[in-house]
Amino acid sequence: MNRRHFILTALGTALLARPALAAPLRVEIYKSPTCGCCTAWADHMTQAGFATDTRDVEQDMLWAIKERSGITPELGSCHTAFVEGYVIEGHVPADDIQRLLAERPDALGLAVPGMPIGSPGMEMGGQVDAFDTLLVLRDGTTDVFQRHG
Ligand code: CU
Ligand code: CU
Repeated sequence: MNRRHFILTALGTALLARPALAAPLRVEIYKSPTCGCCTAWADHMTQAGFATDTRDVEQDMLWAIKERSGITPELGSCHTAFVEGYVIEGHVPADDIQRLLAERPDALGLAVPGMPIGSPGMEMGGQVDAFDTLLVLRDGTTDVFQRHG
């Protein structure tokens, strides 16, 4: 095999192999510049195999993003994220997001209101508060998507 043939063969193999390696899903995360638990949640998402794209925005902008995405103050948490057209508000476990993306319900997305202790990014020793991941529907109502703790 000459060098040119080798390169073309290697290239062909790389192109053929590509569809087997699913590209990691991109999660766009909006947070305030000083939020530590937001960064911890972003790390949780990276570890779960998502490609995270974190953007620091001013608090006013963050509220505007939440409002525009259908996240009311009662549903609000620190950061707001987007994946595959869904909004993800707060410390939602990556497993719940995987399930959302597998089931693809007709909804706005998921929210964990507030910042429950023990949720991903909010670890404090062994303490885990019970919390629910909510499915936010298009009409603004919610269903319990997953119970935790
Ligand atoms: Cu937080
Ligand atoms: Cu956060």
